[in-house]
Amino acid sequence: MATIDKLFQPVQDKVDDTGNKVTVVGVGQVGMAAVFSLLTQGVTNNIAMVDVMADKLKGEMMDLQHGSAFMRNAKIQASTDYSISADSKLCIVTAGVRQREGESRLDLVQRNTDVLKIIIPQLVKYSPDAIFIIASNPVDILTYVTWKISGLPKHRVIGSGTNLDSARFRYLLSEKLGIATTSTHGYIIGEHGDSSVPVWSGVNIAGVRLSDLNPKIGSESDPENWKETHEMVVKSAYEVIKLKGYTSWAIGLSLSQLARAILSNVNSVHAVSTYLKGEHGIEEEVFLSLPCVLGSAGVCDVIRQPLTESETAQLRKSAQLMAQVQAGINF
Ligand code: NAI
Ligand code: LAC
Repeated sequence: MATIDKLFQPVQDKVDDTGNKVTVVGVGQVGMAAVFSLLTQGVTNNIAMVDVMADKLKGEMMDLQHGSAFMRNAKIQASTDYSISADSKLCIVTAGVRQREGESRLDLVQRNTDVLKIIIPQLVKYSPDAIFIIASNPVDILTYVTWKISGLPKHRVIGSGTNLDSARFRYLLSEKLGIATTSTHGYIIGEHGDSSVPVWSGVNIAGVRLSDLNPKIGSESDPENWKETHEMVVKSAYEVIKLKGYTSWAIGLSLSQLARAILSNVNSVHAVSTYLKGEHGIEEEVFLSLPCVLGSAGVCDVIRQPLTESETAQLRKSAQLMAQVQAGINF
């Protein structure tokens, strides 16, 4: 009798499904930061990783598996073959090229559209019921591209959007105010990146709106120059890329937060890129960020924030820019 048969008296076949499987495509800096956050924060205990670089993929998988004793008994798989992703509840796409110093996110659009044309049909084939989160840049346009390629309903295709920009904003405001980031509330909406829109009218601490204390906050004529904080948010990715070559930890944590909202079905509110035609007078078929309620169905509601005229105008301008870029994509 084999040792294993001496050890076990079989009672019932084991069930393979953990109910929270997440596939991450792209095991570069962003993908691995996301996987590490998902595993160490206990958001999932079932990860599948896919990439085209077989050795890197196997190396990352083995390294994480060797950390199993320090985590929550996660199942960690990896393959260049998409069958490994089968029956995922959530697919996160981080594959593709990133900006080099001096490049903007929009410069990446055609290269990363070509990457998504390969990835998305495979993911949909193996996980037809999954929710999709796109992080590859330019994220708002690639979320639109994913929606088009996949044929999925709009509530199941989500861009990581300005959840990250909002987190940077809250951090910088909290530093200025000398309080915790988690006690500093505010949203950046619109495009992830250069044309993002800070909603100064909603920035508040314990419900006290800074715009009630300083009606000029965020404007050109504000003597306190709070708008500088938003300018720092826009510049921050460029600065980090210049310093370390890429951004990873904050986007990894942001993706993990969004994954938790979906897998735990908590209906929490996050600024993510979603289908916006019809909101705030937007006429174009574009994906941009607004605060959304996220649950196991994906985007359950878009929050109707009261915006000032100037905020609405900026949002519409971003929508026009997205539509212009989309019109030039070949997919
Ligand atoms: P990276 O170069 O470190 O990793 C990219 C990975 O994608 C590589 O492992 C590569 O082999 C893989 N890949 C390329 N083509 C593939 C394909 N056809 N199938 C499967 N895998 C493929 O890049 P990094 O730094 O991880 O950035 C990834 C993307 O995320 C970039 O587009 C970057 O701009 C974006 N990004 C987005 C953020 C956001 O807030 N949405 C924040 C930071 C980065
Ligand atoms: C970011 C990436 C580059 O960190 O989009 O904002």
